[in-house]
Amino acid sequence: MNGPNLNLLGEREPEVYGRTTLAEIEAGLAARAGARGAAVRCFQANGEGALIDFIHAQRRWARGIVINPGAYTHYSYALRDAIAAVALPCVEVHLSDLTKREEWRRVSVIAPVCIAQVMGKGAAGYVEALDLLLDRLGAPPASPAPPAP
Ligand code: DQA
Repeated sequence: MNGPNLNLLGEREPEVYGRTTLAEIEAGLAARAGARGAAVRCFQANGEGALIDFIHAQRRWARGIVINPGAYTHYSYALRDAIAAVALPCVEVHLSDLTKREEWRRVSVIAPVCIAQVMGKGAAGYVEALDLLLDRLGAPPASPAPPAP
C-alpha cells in the first residue's frame, strides 16, 4: 500500500525519492511475491479514508501488509488504528531515510503497530519489506486434504 503523493514517484523530487515509478515498484513486488508462492494486491490513495477502507476490505484475504504511508506516517492515528484493528503483521517502508531528514519526519506513529521498518533503500526497500513479511509469515496455510479415495 502506498499513501499520498506516491502516485507521482518517478517525477516527484527524484533527488529524494528516486526515478522508479510506482508502477515499476508494484510490478517488482508482484514478481517477488509470485516467485515466493505469494500474491499481492497493490493500492495507492491520496486520502486517509481510502487507505483505511482498503485495509478493512482486504482484512480477510490478506495475511499481512506492506505500507508506505507517505506523510500520514507522521500523524495519522486513524491509519495506525486501522492496522491495529485488523491485527495483520505490517511492515512500514520508506524510500528515504527519515532519520536523516527534517525533525518532524523522524516520528512515525505507524511504527508501533509494525513488525519492522525499512527505510533509505529506495525502491529496493519495498522488496526487502515484502521478504521480511513473508519470512515472518512462513509457509502458506496447508490446502485442505484431498478427499479419501
Ligand atoms: C516517505 C517519507 C515521508 O516523510 C514523505 O511524506 C513521503 C515519502 C518516503 O518514502 O520516504 O511521502 O514516506
